[in-house]
Amino acid sequence: MFDEPGFPPEADLEHSAIALETFVYCSRASEGVGDEEVDRLIEFSQRRNADRGITGMLVFGSGVFFQWVEGPPTEVQNLVATLHGDSRHHDIVQLDRSVDKRERLYPGWEMERVEADDIRAVLLDALESTEDESNVAALKRILEHLASAPLASLGRS
Ligand SMILES: Cc1cc2nc3c(=O)[nH]c(=O)nc-3n(C[C@H](O)[C@H](O)[C@H](O)COP(=O)(O)O)c2cc1C
Repeated sequence: MFDEPGFPPEADLEHSAIALETFVYCSRASEGVGDEEVDRLIEFSQRRNADRGITGMLVFGSGVFFQWVEGPPTEVQNLVATLHGDSRHHDIVQLDRSVDKRERLYPGWEMERVEADDIRAVLLDALESTEDESNVAALKRILEHLASAPLASLGRS
């Protein structure tokens, strides 16, 4: 197709207005981090992310975080650095990270909290609603990961 040129060479991605970086991970919440702290975190993140063009979702359950972050590469890279230094969680396991010309999966969510029981449903919904090949591949990898290591079991020590 003439109007579907495919992905540009990697060097061009930096200069593409619609290149998005996606960072997906899970981590263990630190001692004492509970629902109230997570609510505060969400409130803060929604304000901060709105200013930075970051969208996504955060799941918290059984002492485990699962977060999908998407946005302009520079902003996502800055956030990833602060996430790694944040003492409210540890054992960060990167599940997916990529920079692509792609549509956002969660365009209206400045950081939505999703209940742990709903995570599969949310990912399956996303899988159905996107035609973007990169997103489909990332979602399939994460669903496979969840099938082999459910969030609830990760939370047990
Ligand atoms: C599980 C988890 C998810 C977070 N998600 C976000 C987020 O989406 N956006 C954000 O700005 N900060 C988020 N934070 C907080 C950042 O780690 C950091 O504390 C915050 O961005 C303040 O950074 P600053 O010290 O540079 O101001 C999250 C923290 C945790 C523990």
